[in-house]
Amino acid sequence: MNLQTPLHEKHTADATSVEEGLAIAEAKDAIYTNEMATETAMANTLLTPRFYTTDFDELDAIDVSGVREDWDKLIDQMEADPNKGHFKKNEDWDHVDWDNMEPELKKEFIDFLISSCTAEFSGCVLYKEMKRRGNNKDITQLFQLMARDEARHAGFINDALREAGLRVNLGFLTQKKKYTYFRPKFIYYATYLSEKIGYARYITIFRHLEAHPEHRFHPIFKWFEEWCNDEFSHGEAFALLMKTDPKLTQGRNVLWIKFFLTAVYSTMYVRDHQRPAFHKALGVDPDWYAHEVFTKTSKLSEQIFPITVDIDHPRWQPNLEKMQKANADLAIAKENGKFFAKLGAQFRAVSAFVSLYTIPAKKHVVPATTRLEPSY
Ligand SMILES: [Fe+2]
Ligand SMILES: [Fe+2]
Repeated sequence: MNLQTPLHEKHTADATSVEEGLAIAEAKDAIYTNEMATETAMANTLLTPRFYTTDFDELDAIDVSGVREDWDKLIDQMEADPNKGHFKKNEDWDHVDWDNMEPELKKEFIDFLISSCTAEFSGCVLYKEMKRRGNNKDITQLFQLMARDEARHAGFINDALREAGLRVNLGFLTQKKKYTYFRPKFIYYATYLSEKIGYARYITIFRHLEAHPEHRFHPIFKWFEEWCNDEFSHGEAFALLMKTDPKLTQGRNVLWIKFFLTAVYSTMYVRDHQRPAFHKALGVDPDWYAHEVFTKTSKLSEQIFPITVDIDHPRWQPNLEKMQKANADLAIAKENGKFFAKLGAQFRAVSAFVSLYTIPAKKHVVPATTRLEPSY
């Protein structure tokens, strides 16, 4: 690499380490920055992507020797870095006519890009911190590789945003966004699920647009296949981490697993239903999409979780709808400063969640080895 190339002229897709990727992103931030996009990314509500911190020493103490064979294979695969250089614009990047994009679609799509960028970057920050604080070679190596990928993903979304005259200031976000503390086991459940659901979301959109290219209103969707393969590997890594300690997926912890499954699924449902114009442009019915993504994620998560939520139960869909309606009403009540309407909406959202959570789970026997390959 030419050492003389100024950082802001390099690309995050070519960065081989998270440090380099972030330095490039920061150099670009110094040139393009946009308060609106960063403010959106800074927001902390139940539905917006959060930043996490955890007990890094506990994570560092994990011994992966029980899953050594699978572990080494996965790390070798990630070290080989099949997606190096992939996440940048090339001749497949069609021109985007932002000026003539239908305003509702533009608003929702930008919101989608900003929240995706925040979510990618949230993973990057957490993984990078683990790598920095750890001494365990297996753990630090894994987290360095995952942070590398997430920095590229976030950088690429920022490329797309820059064309619309926006940019999420990642350096600012790292310093100023509030961090939520999660115990390591909650990080495993939540992060494992967010990686696998991320895979399922990206591959479902990718396959749909393969069949209906006329709905591909933005070129970034062409990159979703390789993208979701990265997320798939990250999920595999968390499955192996959980496999090192059988207690994590037994006994009372199964209730926590059910909680995270329900929370992650219902949050996705509510957020996606906030973007009707976006889904219409994609030619995707958000209810169909949700069911499709839940089915794929549940199937994948059987590799490590002993239960899945029963998404075909008669209480499932109606309560997702109730929760979504309650959230929409909550937003209106907040905007109008109506205290009792707000309280009522909150109560309805919580009771819908309780109703979802108490649906009897489906049980199954977890396979002896966890490793899977992307198959959708
Ligand atoms: Fe990612
Ligand atoms: Fe990921």
